[in-house]
Amino acid sequence: MKSKIEQLKKDALHLLEKVTDRDNLEVLKTELLGRKGKLNDLMKEMAGLADDERKVIGQVVNELKVSVENAFGEKERSMFHVEELNRAEKEWIDITAPGKFPASGHLHPVTEAIAEIQQTFEKIGFSASRIPEIDWDYYVFEALNMPGDHPARDDWETFFVDEAEGSKGKLVLTPHTSNSQVRIMELQKPPIRMVNINRTYRRQSDTTHVSMFHQFEGLVIDRDITIVQLKGVIDYFAKTYFGPTRQTRLRPHHFRFTEPSFEIDISCGVCNGDASVACRLCKAGWLELGGAGMVHPNVLKAGGLDPEEFSGFAFGWGVERVLMMREGMNIDDMRVLYKNDLRFVKQF
Ligand code: PHE
Repeated sequence: MKSKIEQLKKDALHLLEKVTDRDNLEVLKTELLGRKGKLNDLMKEMAGLADDERKVIGQVVNELKVSVENAFGEKERSMFHVEELNRAEKEWIDITAPGKFPASGHLHPVTEAIAEIQQTFEKIGFSASRIPEIDWDYYVFEALNMPGDHPARDDWETFFVDEAEGSKGKLVLTPHTSNSQVRIMELQKPPIRMVNINRTYRRQSDTTHVSMFHQFEGLVIDRDITIVQLKGVIDYFAKTYFGPTRQTRLRPHHFRFTEPSFEIDISCGVCNGDASVACRLCKAGWLELGGAGMVHPNVLKAGGLDPEEFSGFAFGWGVERVLMMREGMNIDDMRVLYKNDLRFVKQF
């Protein structure tokens, strides 16, 4: 019996040594140490031995059991160790490497500009209105002191809608956002502080014009509104949108719906308004921002307001234009904004 035990021990250790994976290890374990395993068979055989012999053999079997169990334990630990090493090798991560961010899109630069311009004016108490971008001739021209066939209308190369005239004239694709002036006066009483950003349409297409573009119209009407406030609002916008060092100036101009009227210029961000530098971007230190002026008495009247009591100012500038004028934009052709070329859009 003793030799049987010795043999079993040898076999067990030999088999154990050859095992290389966990599944086989488990099989071997049940074969040897399981309820119906070889060791238990030995135990059963012991029952037939004489008392004193059983004592001696019992001890040997016990030692065998302990040493086989230990050998298994050892094997399991070393397998676990090897597995962990392999896993560490495979699942190794460099925790100092910069993280990977999921690819995310962004809004079109014009959409972003619209949101930013709107917020800029909201901060100084303007409320955003959305006035129709297809509107009646009345709001687009007539109420703005431009009666039918007035030559000033030629400046707005307008698309008329081929539809029957209504009581307020023809339908037009708005060539400017100034239709919001009388419309808002019909909707609310002063004080009015409004910004209306919308699509506008003109028959034009070149490097600085597209036929569908956006304008933002500002309108302030209250008692005692003067050019001083107009200048203040324009300065605020120029410094907030373009940068704190930018300056503005008013140049006399003519619009039928404002009196006096101005072109607003902003100091050039490249040469800082230094006319002595031959700047590639501006004309003698200044860039043209757009039109503005004090609301014409006839326009106030059209909006149901008494020009003796109320006064106001308005301005209307192009969104694409101010976006292109922003420092570092380097867009030399406005049409690229609407070419749906992702290579362009992804730069922003
Ligand atoms: N509507 C004018 C344009 O499109 C701009 C403007 C708006 C001028 C408001 C004066 C007052 O050119």
